[in-house]
Amino acid sequence: MSSPKYQSPKGTRDILPDDHLYFSFIKKVVRHRCREAGYRRISTPMFEDIEVFIHSIGETTDIVEKEMFVFESKSGKKLALKPEGTAGVVRAYLEHGMQQLPQPVELYYIEPHFRYSRPQKGRYRQFHQFGFEIIGEADSAIDAQVIYLAHKINQDLGVADRLTLQLNTIGCPNCRKQYREDLINYYTGKERSLCADCQMRLHRNPMRLLDCKEEDCQILASMAPKFENVIDQECKEHFELVKEYLDELKVPYVLNPQLVRGLDYYTRTVFEFWSKKEGAQNATGGGGRYDGLVELMGGQPTPGIGYAAGMERIVEYMQEAGIRPPNKDRIHVFIAQLGLIAKKRSLSLLNELRERGINVVGSAGKDSIKSQMHVADRLKARFSLIMGQIEVQEGTIILRDMDKGSQEILPYKGIVDVVASNIGENKLAKKNLWEE
Ligand code: HAM
Repeated sequence: MSSPKYQSPKGTRDILPDDHLYFSFIKKVVRHRCREAGYRRISTPMFEDIEVFIHSIGETTDIVEKEMFVFESKSGKKLALKPEGTAGVVRAYLEHGMQQLPQPVELYYIEPHFRYSRPQKGRYRQFHQFGFEIIGEADSAIDAQVIYLAHKINQDLGVADRLTLQLNTIGCPNCRKQYREDLINYYTGKERSLCADCQMRLHRNPMRLLDCKEEDCQILASMAPKFENVIDQECKEHFELVKEYLDELKVPYVLNPQLVRGLDYYTRTVFEFWSKKEGAQNATGGGGRYDGLVELMGGQPTPGIGYAAGMERIVEYMQEAGIRPPNKDRIHVFIAQLGLIAKKRSLSLLNELRERGINVVGSAGKDSIKSQMHVADRLKARFSLIMGQIEVQEGTIILRDMDKGSQEILPYKGIVDVVASNIGENKLAKKNLWEE
């Protein structure tokens, strides 16, 4: 087959109806769990003033240095598509005076994001994240609750057993000052063994050298000075409590002193969910505390913590695990008809069935019943209703069970009740869309 003239841009994917089964299910779980925990939904624009990202994520991070889609407005303002959600949420928190609301403020989002990185398995230029942020509380119990929520969602989606929670603390800027120097001293003289990225990062962001994935860098990182030797008492106690609370909540974790995360706003607790599969490098999600970010963005000192997960990656893990989300799209009934009167009747029958929460498709063309039934088969309809001239004259309709291949002639009157009870009334979607 020759390839079509137009294809989706490099690093982007169409989310086809079968993929949406997964995306819709993830959204449903996230909405449900977030609501239960008191979060409210927020959406920030797809693009922001570039400074919002530079200032928060950090000038020397890969995201800001290499991965942003940057463009100029007609007035010459530099804008960027959002590569992640936290910066925009914190900007909105300040812009809309959310400091005045009861603290902490709990927000969640489900949005597309954009990073101009080399496309590969699990890495796209447009991808979807769900995430949540709690702004306005520094207590370790909040860290444990955020991590618990992420873990719970992984459990609901059936992927928790395939993942490990990697946990670390990177302390506060105070304890990091000393550590920065220790690291620069340790790496000085060893530059030639480092990858090109790490050589660049050494003086600008030496902690990032600890979680480089290159083999030689990892060997050096394993022998580097340990953060636990310089962490201050307060940060240490904060982390001890995070671990105690996680134990209490029975959330399993692996302590990983080399976990640093790729964004500069983090302080203290950082965490990621990694695959248990050998060699798999992509995290399904990650997050951490950002106690300095609100102030950095121009607000009063206000602590915060959050998490975001990559939905494409989670879908991949669900598929690997053989998980199929419930399919609410299934066509319950296909209506086949022949002749003008039958067609007219089928129009109101369609609507009556739909009002009962039944998913119905009706044939509109003038094809033979045989070819209409062929379509019903291909659509995998559960039942077909067939109405030709004879049935119209006799006031009947044929109900065909497509799974069993059997059929019966029934009175037209009352057919909606019969179909609804065959499908199982309790399986049908609620029709009151305004119900809370
Ligand atoms: P992040 O680790 O950069 O954190 O991204 C979170 C997740 O988004 C990743 O673990 C991954 O699953 C997914 N992801 C990132 N880049 C791509 C990509 N190019 N293609 C597919 N999936 C991707 C953040 O974004 C932080 N804002 C998380 C956070 C919220 N921290 C505090 N609050």
